[in-house]
Amino acid sequence: MDGQRWVNGSPAPDVLILGGSGRIGTAVALDILEHTGARVCLASRRPRLPPSLGALEPGRVRLARLDLTEAGALAALLSPPAGRLAPSVTSPVTPPVSPPVSLSGKAAYDLVIHCAGPFRQRDLGVLEACIAARVNYLDVSDSPDYVRSALALGEAAQRAGVTAIVSTGVFPGWSNSMARLAAEQFASLDRLQLNYVVAGSGGAGPTVMRTTFLELQRPFPAWIGGAWRQVWPYGDRELASFPPPYGPASVYGFSTSEAATLPNSFTCNEVVTKFGSLPQFYNQLTGLMAWGPLGHLLQNAAVVEGLARISYAMTQVSDRFSGVGLAMQVVATGQPKPARPDRKASYPPAINWTFAMTTPRSPLARAPAVWQRIYWRGDWRNPAFGR
Ligand SMILES: NC(=O)c1ccc[n+]([C@@H]2O[C@H](COP(=O)([O-])OP(=O)(O)OC[C@H]3O[C@@H](n4cnc5c(N)ncnc54)[C@H](OP(=O)(O)O)[C@@H]3O)[C@@H](O)[C@H]2O)c1
Repeated sequence: MDGQRWVNGSPAPDVLILGGSGRIGTAVALDILEHTGARVCLASRRPRLPPSLGALEPGRVRLARLDLTEAGALAALLSPPAGRLAPSVTSPVTPPVSPPVSLSGKAAYDLVIHCAGPFRQRDLGVLEACIAARVNYLDVSDSPDYVRSALALGEAAQRAGVTAIVSTGVFPGWSNSMARLAAEQFASLDRLQLNYVVAGSGGAGPTVMRTTFLELQRPFPAWIGGAWRQVWPYGDRELASFPPPYGPASVYGFSTSEAATLPNSFTCNEVVTKFGSLPQFYNQLTGLMAWGPLGHLLQNAAVVEGLARISYAMTQVSDRFSGVGLAMQVVATGQPKPARPDRKASYPPAINWTFAMTTPRSPLARAPAVWQRIYWRGDWRNPAFGR
């Protein structure tokens, strides 16, 4: 499939990536360009062509200047092709391509992918603009508040015939699929715990650091003992056992979208989500900000911005020693399914799915891998499941 044609000879779709020059946006664009014939437009306040995209068919990448805080700016960008040639759209690095034609004929883009966090600070303007323009929407949101409000627009999206998928990515994203996979192993689920450990920057950009400090500002609701309770972040330390090369790592209670949504997806008694960093030193610094006497400073936007920039700069150095990667684990317990007559073993009372990923040049380097363990007769084991 070439870059200009799509299935059945129809024009290739146009994808608008908000935050497209950021770390996540660039990775998303790279995947789209490598694995589909779609064209991408990278939009942000200071749009630039990331070096990793420079070598790819230049005609498939466009840049657009867009500030999400400017009312109406996105709606103008989404308006039908004539509107898209407004001066706000630039393509300074790559030559302009012929004006893309929307598959629907109604809007300039067929899909908007929202990667311009921090989502705690975003309103629903992007999703609302997509619904109004009947453009499909996908985001990598990781703020529980944002996700709750976005899900509330589900019916409006359906009425407009818009597919809107919130919280895709690794966590949230794959973590939710792991939780479902684990939950499906039980007749009834009792408890879900998701543990995450991130080595260094985890490969993400400074906005992830902003998100971390924003989520430390206040207690968050967690589903514990069959009721919603307020929990203060970065407490309740636990040593979680990750497979090599991560090993045992400290994880702490943390506000996540999964903690907000999984109790609505599954009937269960408890959902706990815990997060930690490597090296351990970063946890101590984060804990100090959450619990120490200077914690009130996190209410100040300038302090959050300063801390995010300093932390990001620190990870750019420490990444060389700590490696870059992430591991996540779902531990689920529940009532076993009844034994099947054709199988010797019955289903386990607990299961642990762990996924770990590292960057290729990292000291932690290993191929992405999934570990599956079940708790059986007093011990965690690694048998092929279901045999
Ligand atoms: N679901 C998951 O698994 C997952 C994983 C990692 C990260 N995330 C989320 O993904 C988001 C992006 O992370 P990142 O690592 O890519 O951060 P990043 O490298 O800092 O990129 C942020 C992007 O947003 C743009 N941006 C910021 N404010 C904007 C505004 N007002 N209008 C338009 N564009 C704006 C920035 O460009 P300009 O400065 O030029 O505007 C930049 O391109 C974060 O919110 C993070 O929490 C989700």
